Amino acid sequence: MKVLVCGGAGYIGSNMTAVLAQNGHEPIVYDNLSKGHRAAVHGVKFVHGDLSNFELLLRTMREHRIEAVMHFAAFIEVGESVSQPLRYYRNNLANALTVLEAMENAGVDKFVFSSTAAVYGMPDVGLITEETPKNPINPYGDSKWDVERICQFQCRTRRLRYAALRYFNACGAGQDGKLGEDHTPESHLIPLVIYAAMGKRADIKIFGTDYPTSDGTCIRDYIHVEDLCSAHLLGLKALDSTNEVVCNLGIGKGYSVRQVIDTVKKVSGKDVKVVEDQRRAGDPPVLTADSSKAMRELGWKPKYTSLEGIIETAWKWHNSHPDGYED
Ligand code: UFG
Repeated sequence: MKVLVCGGAGYIGSNMTAVLAQNGHEPIVYDNLSKGHRAAVHGVKFVHGDLSNFELLLRTMREHRIEAVMHFAAFIEVGESVSQPLRYYRNNLANALTVLEAMENAGVDKFVFSSTAAVYGMPDVGLITEETPKNPINPYGDSKWDVERICQFQCRTRRLRYAALRYFNACGAGQDGKLGEDHTPESHLIPLVIYAAMGKRADIKIFGTDYPTSDGTCIRDYIHVEDLCSAHLLGLKALDSTNEVVCNLGIGKGYSVRQVIDTVKKVSGKDVKVVEDQRRAGDPPVLTADSSKAMRELGWKPKYTSLEGIIETAWKWHNSHPDGYED
């Protein structure tokens, strides 16, 4: 299938592009390189474009006879979304709408959308299912939920089939450690602990040690980027026979911030200076996924079920790219 990968030069998009090509699809990357890296895209067509550019999107979809669109081009910083909500609604909501409008005009009806655990807000449950109430508490999560709702309604017109995949904490490096995480600035826990282990930063701060969890730090469900990609492939295939797929993607097991730090120490063999700091605004104590729907309905099975295995791939990537991608 000819798949337009919006944000295909970013962390998850570049991994998806490689996986699509390896599975007999023809990905075409569409990216404005505001966050992504040209060096993360190999051997496929690349369109340097902005998602606000309706004409270019439409022309690209028509010229390449695109059959499906995958969307990885959102901003992802929760804190920044709180301080700059308009920026987030502009990119994550308005630009996604432009993509959907271009799809409708070009007659492309398959859409795979990167959604997030942030649509659930501060859930008061152990494992989160797709039915857990959606109460986003920041513009990031809210903008993703807005796009999901637009897809629900557009789907009812029969002009759209969509898969909304709600990621928990994406991490690790794909393609044998060749495609990894390179955000500027970096805010995610695993890369930051790795930077500390590499000596690229002095310490790692734990944001809150008084949460109602076993060791007082937040618990998250860390899912390897390759497992996200395999779920996207299955989601895309499912759209041949179904109109709507909504699934959580996590491994169903939570690890605390302290456990992540200890695992990086173990994998790297390096010590890491830990500083206990205040809570970060908007962090739920625990976010873990019930992903049984993806397993049942898509036949998805995550390959990386241990944090150590995941962190090994990230450690490998960061060590072979100590300054990130070259561009
Ligand atoms: N943390 C620290 N120190 C740091 C960085 C993070 O203690 O220097 C903690 C956070 O407070 C949190 C945990 O580590 O408890 C994980 O934080 P991340 O920033 O790595 O990830 P989040 O759980 O905040 O965010 C993830 C995705 C986001 C998405 C969000 C949805 O990375 O894109 O889940 O809830 F929006």
